[in-house]
Amino acid sequence: MAEHDSSQITSLDVKLSAYAPVDRLRWASETFGSRAAIGTSFQPAGIVIMHLAKSAGLPLKAFTLNTGLLFPETLALKTQLEEALQISIEEVHPAQTVAEQAATHGAELWKRNPEKCCELRKVDSLGKKLFEMDLWITGMRRDQSTERSATPLLSLAARPDNSDVWKLNPLVDWSRDQVWAYLKEHKLPHNVLHDRGYRSIGCWPCTQPSSGNDERGGRWPGFEKRECGIHTPNKKS
Ligand code: ADX
Ligand code: SF4
Repeated sequence: MAEHDSSQITSLDVKLSAYAPVDRLRWASETFGSRAAIGTSFQPAGIVIMHLAKSAGLPLKAFTLNTGLLFPETLALKTQLEEALQISIEEVHPAQTVAEQAATHGAELWKRNPEKCCELRKVDSLGKKLFEMDLWITGMRRDQSTERSATPLLSLAARPDNSDVWKLNPLVDWSRDQVWAYLKEHKLPHNVLHDRGYRSIGCWPCTQPSSGNDERGGRWPGFEKRECGIHTPNKKS
């Protein structure tokens, strides 16, 4: 797709909202071909999306931003999913290793400046990856947190040069229970950390178990920070 205006986004959003998630993915694959990709952190929604795509025979690529600070359990799940779904999930790495970052910015930057650490280890590497894509598919859901309650199904995000990249959240209107029921129904694996009280899982230094309504309450404990920055801001919606 070429350039677009907000009325085009709104009408597509309305159209796709009436579709089941698998048909939203089919639209993505047919419209954007190899310029569409699923970004996954191996949380339940991402697993559902990859399984829906695979089961429908949609040739959608998948990638993960490997910050170098993922839990071993998360990396083990990546291998398990690649085997179970017979897919390959590309690893996108930051410009610097964790050791190089420590040499440049000081050790354990996440303890002093998690904004900067997320920028270096997630936002910048996604930014580079977005130049290979015209549609970025994510597992964001409205019921994940108050901040995400108005997340659109379809929107425009920005590449680092401020050019447009479409963003689709095919499970945006699914609840946590729906996602888990799908995993169970299809006997799909999940991150074993969920069984130990972790509800939203990112890098090990910034993730702890949590309870209550706020699914993302265990992220960046001790900081006001609520988002890593890859989802903020959306350009237009
Ligand atoms: S985030 O704060 O880490 O971005 P969350 O863990 O709730 O948020 O993930 C929401 C969605 O962001 C995921 O479903 C996935 O699409 C995308 N995402 C988050 N982390 C990564 C990652 N490390 N690699 C690829 N995509 C990611
Ligand atoms: Fe760094 Fe924590 Fe952000 Fe991971 S989540 S990139 S460790 S600040």
